[in-house]
Amino acid sequence: MDDATRLTPVDDVPANGSWLFTVFDRTGEREEAILVRACDGVAGWLNFCQHETDQRLDRGVGAAVRDDEIVCPKHGSMFDACSGTCDNGKAAGSTLVAVDVAVEDGAVFLTDDAYDFAHEGGIEDDDLPGSSSHLTF
Ligand code: FES
Repeated sequence: MDDATRLTPVDDVPANGSWLFTVFDRTGEREEAILVRACDGVAGWLNFCQHETDQRLDRGVGAAVRDDEIVCPKHGSMFDACSGTCDNGKAAGSTLVAVDVAVEDGAVFLTDDAYDFAHEGGIEDDDLPGSSSHLTF
């Protein structure tokens, strides 16, 4: 994994939540992504629902992950944490956008050529210097 970027220790990825980070895509735009426990390891997904793409799965406090499914906080569609597919609710028939990651030596690495690591946390965490608030209303 010569070109891979080390993201975080596997132990930092919660069993029932997500680890939020920001990447740059090939056009230089920032995108949010999440790591979740899945597939007996860790899976990576872009941080938006397929029903309404402005809806974040992790709103800064961790995505809801229950029984190996990521639950959209808006309408409750559930995405398979391993395959990204959804067969229920308003997002039925869709699949989350994958971000390729790999686990080695107890750490998670970004291996996706389509993205470069920007920073831990969401996009707004970089826009608000000094802000540590993750309050949602
Ligand atoms: S916005 Fe996610 S199911 Fe509707």
